[in-house]
Amino acid sequence: MIPSFNKIKPSSYKSLALIGLVFYSIYTTFFTNHPCCRLSEFMLDQSHIRVHPPDPPTPTTNLTHLVFGIAGSSRTWVKRRPYVDLWWRPNATRGHVWLERTPDEWPASSPPYRVNSDLRRFKKYDRHGHPATLRQVYMIKEAFDAVGVAGGAAAEEPRWLVMVDDDTMVFVENLVEVLNKYDHRGYFYLGGVSECVSQTATHSFELAFGGAGFVMSWPLARGFSRIADECLKRYPDLYGGDHVTMSCVSELGVSVTHHPGFHQFDLRGDISGYLSAHPKAPLLTFHHVDVLDPIFPSKMDRLSSLRHLMSAAAADSSRLLQQFFCYHHNTTATWSFSLSFGYSVHLYEKLIPPSALRLPIQTFKPWRGWTKPFFMFNVREHSVVDDPCEAPHVFFFESVVREGGGGGVVSTYVRRGPRGVAACGNHSAEGVSRVRVFTPENRLEHVGKRRECCKVSIGSDMIAEITLKTCGMYESLI
Ligand SMILES: *[C@@H]1O[C@H](CO)[C@@H](O)[C@H](O)[C@H]1NC(C)=O
Ligand SMILES: *[C@@H]1O[C@H](CO)[C@@H](O)[C@H](O)[C@H]1NC(C)=O
Ligand SMILES: *[C@@H]1O[C@H](CO)[C@@H](O)[C@H](O)[C@H]1NC(C)=O
Ligand SMILES: *[C@@H]1O[C@H](CO)[C@@H](O)[C@H](O)[C@H]1NC(C)=O
Repeated sequence: MIPSFNKIKPSSYKSLALIGLVFYSIYTTFFTNHPCCRLSEFMLDQSHIRVHPPDPPTPTTNLTHLVFGIAGSSRTWVKRRPYVDLWWRPNATRGHVWLERTPDEWPASSPPYRVNSDLRRFKKYDRHGHPATLRQVYMIKEAFDAVGVAGGAAAEEPRWLVMVDDDTMVFVENLVEVLNKYDHRGYFYLGGVSECVSQTATHSFELAFGGAGFVMSWPLARGFSRIADECLKRYPDLYGGDHVTMSCVSELGVSVTHHPGFHQFDLRGDISGYLSAHPKAPLLTFHHVDVLDPIFPSKMDRLSSLRHLMSAAAADSSRLLQQFFCYHHNTTATWSFSLSFGYSVHLYEKLIPPSALRLPIQTFKPWRGWTKPFFMFNVREHSVVDDPCEAPHVFFFESVVREGGGGGVVSTYVRRGPRGVAACGNHSAEGVSRVRVFTPENRLEHVGKRRECCKVSIGSDMIAEITLKTCGMYESLI
């Protein structure tokens, strides 16, 4: 007989409720949360699958979506300003130079400045090796907060916060193009490591080194600015701002994304070997501009050298420092050319394959440390310059013209001087005085693309002419 409801005693209601609760917990624990069972649940009932409408396409990222924070100092601005002027575009680039105190005067053409807030309240958390650590980290929050969004509409928000030092140059078109490949609505912390193994190992392989510049997507920058006050207190013993920043970013569950176009340039002396064999990626930044030797020899100082490089950037920043390989074969000799667009041409009197040419000749020294390996990349020893078959004839960028009307870009490179060693074979290249390079007008695409192929001819005037074009489907560079 089925008991009627009024026969169930109050204690039975309790038991029923308890049993129900137990079954419910078992169900929620094992059937809805356990990964092994999620699939079967979905298979039983397809109505659980929610179809998200596709995200609306967002407009392409352009310069107005970037906000720059330049870590400066009122003491050094006079000296650093000319370098920032090389890349800053008045009324186009947004952002501020951040200073530790109000300057006596401020040039109208310089980026607007802001003064960092008083950080004395964090004094007891400041045991950092680098004296500017607190300021460097807090500046990220300040740079984020300083952006007033007109109208406040989400669509008009900036997308990326770019933090650099006042001795860092930025190649803004390339940076915009690279950032356009990432979803600014996500969490990104983009940057580069030091070139120097000991620097990277001492600080962290997971860092974005500050001098090289780093970029935070806007959601990350917002999160960072929310936790900055608390986070600053948690790492009082780390050496510098880059490391504390990375630690705070980690607290938000975000890791660095390295891009080979950011250059800390923790190198010393003559970096021409590196600039002649840049990684196959767009050039984004260039740090330590007033520490390294002038990048072009022959009477040019640091500033005019960089201005000269910027003239190549103005003609075609997408190919700037991109390396291309050309081979000149005939029945008696092969010559190999390595072009670094807008910077140099190296000519060798024998066949040297791309896999070797792409290694920088070590013309430079590490920032510090005396144990090998010095660098985060492979090099060719500097001694190659004494070997007739391994030593390049070196030509440096002289001038560039955009022909327009489909005529492409013509750049010329002039011989640095006599090579100083005997010929490798019977055909010395000593007579080649300059190299003329023809490149297409379009900007070079990088992601998923091969290097461009090239043809070379030697005129009777001993001027080498190099023409770049897209490779045929199975065309080899050699
Ligand atoms: C940049 O993109 C925004 C849309 O997101 C657009 O309103 C603006 O005109 C663009 N600026 C330039 C210089 O193309
Ligand atoms: C920038 O904008 C201001 C005000 O609109 C104007 O006076 C100035 O000439 C502009 N500068 C440049 C370099 O376009
Ligand atoms: C150089 O030329 C000489 C004579 O013309 C020839 O015997 C020799 O094999 C050549 N050397 C090379 C490396 O081609
Ligand atoms: C091969 O090229 C070298 C270098 O341009 C030149 O000196 C030599 O005369 C050329 N030989 C032939 C057979 O074309």
